[in-house]
Amino acid sequence: MKKILIAYFSIQNHTFKIAQKIGEICRGDVFGIETEVEFPQDFNYLALIAQKQLENQTYPKLRKVLSIEKMKEYDTILLGFPIWWEDLPRAVCTFLKMYDFSGKVIVPFFTHLGSSFGGRSLQTIKDMVPNGKVAEEYVFSVHDEDIDNADYKIGQWLKSVSEKY
Ligand SMILES: Cc1cc2nc3c(=O)[nH]c(=O)nc-3n(C[C@H](O)[C@H](O)[C@H](O)COP(=O)(O)O)c2cc1C
Repeated sequence: MKKILIAYFSIQNHTFKIAQKIGEICRGDVFGIETEVEFPQDFNYLALIAQKQLENQTYPKLRKVLSIEKMKEYDTILLGFPIWWEDLPRAVCTFLKMYDFSGKVIVPFFTHLGSSFGGRSLQTIKDMVPNGKVAEEYVFSVHDEDIDNADYKIGQWLKSVSEKY
């Protein structure tokens, strides 16, 4: 039977809510990607730090890690994140850089405030996991305003993903 990991990064809790819901619906382990240095809640400051990290292509250190051995157990990784500056938050790049995704499938899901196609984030994921398969046809996104009413949509999405992966 396939083993599923739901790995997510979330600072303002939107992606967290979706990840929790996914965890309730499908049998999978949920892992929060958290940085060693906490991000500020103040939006302007947060936006500035995120922008600098993106510009400098940094790999922020993570506070806790999933061991390489543990990652080997999973077949499918549902990877959740917010769109930041039309791209993937760099902390997610740190996470992706740690593992070999050969033979695994990454199914991205993201929250956003308008970038419903995810900007450059999917390309960034593909660049980060040259050995893994990114299931672009199953990418799932939710606008912040729809998060509290997304249960049905999440269920439908998981159903279609599970038919393939
Ligand atoms: C630093 C920063 C940059 C953002 N850039 C974008 C963007 O380019 N496009 C977009 O649609 N939303 C953008 N947003 C909105 C977030 O994607 C959205 O609020 C998301 O749900 C936040 O996820 P979280 O609550 O899990 O942290 C940005 C938010 C932040 C904090």
